[in-house]
Amino acid sequence: MDLLTLAKQRYSSRVYSEEKINGDVLTYILEAGRVAPTAKNIQPYKVLVIQDDENLEKLSESARIYGAPLALVVCKDTDNSWLRPIDGKEHGDIDATIVTDHMMLAATDKGLNSVWICFFDSEKIKESFNFPPNLEPVNILVVGHSPDEPKSPDRHKETRKSLEDTIVFESF
Ligand SMILES: Cc1cc2nc3c(=O)[nH]c(=O)nc-3n(C[C@H](O)[C@H](O)[C@H](O)COP(=O)(O)O)c2cc1C
Repeated sequence: MDLLTLAKQRYSSRVYSEEKINGDVLTYILEAGRVAPTAKNIQPYKVLVIQDDENLEKLSESARIYGAPLALVVCKDTDNSWLRPIDGKEHGDIDATIVTDHMMLAATDKGLNSVWICFFDSEKIKESFNFPPNLEPVNILVVGHSPDEPKSPDRHKETRKSLEDTIVFESF
């Protein structure tokens, strides 16, 4: 399947069965994140993999994870992320987000469903999972098997802005 077909096939699932994720498939997803580009190749991130029921339950006190059997909490390392010298802009969120996107598409590639979550209690997650002070959760990707009706790969005609609305050539 080409990348555009895969990207159009992906949708956010908010209902999951209890079926766990196969270990080889998990490794494939994590490997897709590992090869993601980061600013200056610093790779200032950690992925906290949560699949034990007790820990998923604990995570659901801080975020709505829709009963998914796997949560990947992508964290930035604030001690090591690249600061743009010109203005000091910190790039850890961007790096963590590219890693998350790679893993999300890899999950789709393996026939799994997912939803990206940013609505969470960051401080509670840090406390619940013993975060060191330099790590901060940026994104949670939950992954699993969904019994829902797949959203149409053609839905973007209605649900996304057009290229004319978002792309500007050469100059504003
Ligand atoms: C940065 C980001 C944060 C998101 N946060 C949440 C969230 O906290 N909870 C949720 O249910 N969905 C969340 N989503 C999923 C979006 O709502 C969803 O991707 C968007 O509505 C488009 O729908 P689609 O993924 O089905 O194409 C988030 C997506 C992104 C990219």
